[in-house]
Amino acid sequence: MKPLVLILNGPNLNLLGTREPEIYGRDTLDSIGAALSAQADALSLEIDMRQSNHEGHLVDWIHEAGAAGALAIILNAGAYTHTSIAIHDAIKAVSVPVIEVHLSNPHAREAFRHKSLIAPVAKGSICGFGAGSYTLALDAAAALRH
Ligand code: DQA
Repeated sequence: MKPLVLILNGPNLNLLGTREPEIYGRDTLDSIGAALSAQADALSLEIDMRQSNHEGHLVDWIHEAGAAGALAIILNAGAYTHTSIAIHDAIKAVSVPVIEVHLSNPHAREAFRHKSLIAPVAKGSICGFGAGSYTLALDAAAALRH
């Protein structure tokens, strides 16, 4: 059985492609998912990519990854990155390593994006590379396999 990597996307990321393309680029979530599928095949990983605008869905999916014994979670929590104690706690409640990703570099943007509640409980964080943040994260997830 191939190791499973959940790729979870939070609010407004369903609008990628048309949402502030000068910040987030023109790739859609579907096109990012297609590239990650090909990459996962090459890495012999199974991926399951999801998106929700609802905080509780992300919490439930983190629990699900824990119960499934996933290799890793790649998480772009969107704006919940900066606000969600519930997602922070969910990550702490499971033993699956989380790789935090962002398309943009939040540290180079508004002050309210400088704090991440995900970063202190993540294995590591990758930001600022557009869709490339996800491909770098999938490579990082593959490197966690032993
Ligand atoms: C984001 C950065 C967040 O600050 C923002 O709220 C998003 C997208 C990113 O991928 O760059 O929704 O997570």
